[in-house]
Amino acid sequence: MKKLENIEKMQQFSFQARKKSHIIGLVPTMGALHQGHLSLIQAARQECHEVVVSIFVNPTQFGENEDYERYPRDWNQDCSLAAAAGATAVFLPSASDIYPPSYQTTLHLDSLTQHLCGAHRPGHFDAVATVVCKLLNIVAPHRAYFGQKDVQQLRVIQQMTADLNMNVGIVPMPTLRESDGLAMSSRNAYLSPSERLAAGIIYQALLTTEQAAQAGETSPLILQQLLLSHLVSEPLVHVEYAAVADPVTLTPLEQQQSSMLLAVAVRIGDTRLIDNLLINLP
Ligand code: PAJ
Repeated sequence: MKKLENIEKMQQFSFQARKKSHIIGLVPTMGALHQGHLSLIQAARQECHEVVVSIFVNPTQFGENEDYERYPRDWNQDCSLAAAAGATAVFLPSASDIYPPSYQTTLHLDSLTQHLCGAHRPGHFDAVATVVCKLLNIVAPHRAYFGQKDVQQLRVIQQMTADLNMNVGIVPMPTLRESDGLAMSSRNAYLSPSERLAAGIIYQALLTTEQAAQAGETSPLILQQLLLSHLVSEPLVHVEYAAVADPVTLTPLEQQQSSMLLAVAVRIGDTRLIDNLLINLP
């Protein structure tokens, strides 16, 4: 596996691969790789000749009081894990490589960024769209892999690549979970043992609400109340939002429809966790 530590080396790698008509897959990450990330790399391995994993803790997508400084970083372990999962290259740019002092451009998406997490993290999704656009331009992959766990991020990237006519396939990947259902996340490492136990309620609440919908309770308002009441039954959980939304536009639903997205963000202690579940009614 190649370690590419600047943009020029990354571009040379992709140029050579494309000259050989090799299919390039990109898995963008912020490192602290876990099984969720590795499942994206493994899927890319099945479909692409070259699998590039980018590891870049993007400073611009963290808010002022967020966890940029304490975000877990272990590049050596990440490189070993990425190689074992099938990566053929890791791209490890520095912040000054990505954002030189002269840097000025930020993308903006209008509607998709207003809902769910966007309402609580101003500028976050514009920053994500911008860095992913840069990564796609630098790596020039044929396909790029994103987890459905970050469903709003996935929608933003799908919309951005469509709006800007970017020639890349965006591949959505299912959420990998711990044995109690908690969605795998680099941020789970922040949880104390009692907080970790409490976090199991998130998936339980999503599942119970989905089961109610499948059993015939399809009013979005009632489903939302159900989701919320399950979450607040755990005293350590502070709910940021619990929403029933359209899976494409992410707008809150007033009327039932065959496909509805349950999405939640909670705080447990100092840790912010998100999760979601798609309901498809028969
Ligand atoms: P990061 O949080 O490191 O996630 C990298 C990719 O892994 C994302 O596509 C995310 O949705 C996916 N992922 C995370 N947890 C997952 C799980 N439990 N199951 C499946 N996939 C999972 O998301 C980012 O980094 C950044 O915002 C980034 C896109 C790299 C831009 O900076």
